[in-house]
Formats: sequence, structure tokens, C-alpha cells
Amino acid sequence: MQTLISPSLLAADFTNLQADIEMVNNSEADWFHLDIMDGVFVPNISYGIPVVEQINRIAKKPLDVHLMIIDPDRYVKAFQESGADILTVHYEACTHLHRTVQNIKQHGMKAGVSLNPHTPISVLEDIITDIDLVLLMSVNPGFGGQSFIENTYNKVKKLKNLIKEKHSNSLIEIDGGVNLETGKKLIEAGANALVAGSFVFGSENPTKTISNLKKL
Ligand code: DX5
Ligand code: ZN
Repeated sequence: MQTLISPSLLAADFTNLQADIEMVNNSEADWFHLDIMDGVFVPNISYGIPVVEQINRIAKKPLDVHLMIIDPDRYVKAFQESGADILTVHYEACTHLHRTVQNIKQHGMKAGVSLNPHTPISVLEDIITDIDLVLLMSVNPGFGGQSFIENTYNKVKKLKNLIKEKHSNSLIEIDGGVNLETGKKLIEAGANALVAGSFVFGSENPTKTISNLKKL
């Protein structure tokens, strides 16, 4: 399977968001990665449901929505209505994770679970066959442009083994500090999808950068 690329709009130019969305539409990217931050689960606030709705009007690729919010159950329906295709919640933010995952699937979306850098892969043992995607954080969530945490490679390998052992179909997506160098090693370790924010939108030619990531 070719690696899926999910550019994070957090690093886009919000004064001219349409141009960046069209760039992604016309690129080799597979998804739009949308980062929702509540200022409680993470020490930053990004954008919310009305912005997702508007992005959805012109985005021609699936919306890969990463919720960095506490108690995400309250907003599953609202994100489905705003156009989310994949809805990822944080393990650390869900008391009843199984219930939340079922709720996401009942709303017709793919269900993802994200792990912070300190959270071990083993917590997924009893949920891995119920989910479509694991989003491994390779930085502490909250900000773009941070440097990659090297231990992520070990986590990808451990997760790959767990997925095999349990016969799960879950994809492995990595978020934070992805560039051509870290991206290559992540794919070698077993990653299926890469999120990239500042590396794409901070580059001189974002379309070409996406294409270079796609070629890894
Ligand atoms: C961080 C977000 C990321 C962020 C990645 O909390 O979840 O999706 O946009 O940004 P880069 O690729 O710049 O590390
Ligand atoms: Zn993210």
C-alpha cells in the first residue's frame, strides 16, 4: 500500500485558506488533517466546527479530524454533520473509549484513537480490533513545528506487531515533526499514513513537498 499523506491545515495561511485547500485538492495528498484543540486537553486553542464545515464545502478529499479535546463524545454528531470522514479521539481524554469508538462508527465515520508520546501501545490491546486507525503522536500535542520524538519508531514497530497479532485492519498514522527524513524511517518501521504541517506549508513548493512525501 502506498503511504497516505495528510497535510495539517494548522500550518496553512488562514488569511487565504481557500488557496491552501485548493493546493491540497490538486496535490497527491490523500486526506486533510484538521486539528481541533480546546485549550484544556492541550495548552492551545485552534478552530472549531464552523471552520470544519466551511473547509468541507471546498475540500475534495476526506477530512481526517484529530480531536484534542476532553469528553469528545459530546461532539461526535456535530463533527459528522460538519463533514468529518475520520474522527480521531485521544485515549487520554476518554473514560469510556469503547463507547466513544462505537459512537463514532454508528455515525458512519472511521474511528481513530490517538496516543500521546508517553502512552504505551499496550493500552490498545483490547480496542485494536474495533478501530480503523491509530494516530501516534510523535510530539506532545498542541502546537505545530515541534521536533520529532525518536522513541516513536519503537512505538510504530510495537503497534505493527500488535495489529498483526490481533488480526486488526487498523492503519498507523503519525503526527508531529514529520519530514522526508523522519517520514522515511517511519515508513520503514511500518507507518501507513503521515501527517505533515509545517514541513508542507512552510516549504517553498508545498505541492512538490507533498509529492516528495508520497514517493517515500
Ligand atoms: C500537533 C498537531 C499536528 C500538527 C503537526 O498537536 O496534532 O497535527 O499540526 O504539525 P507539524 O507537522 O508541524 O509537526
Ligand atoms: Zn494532528
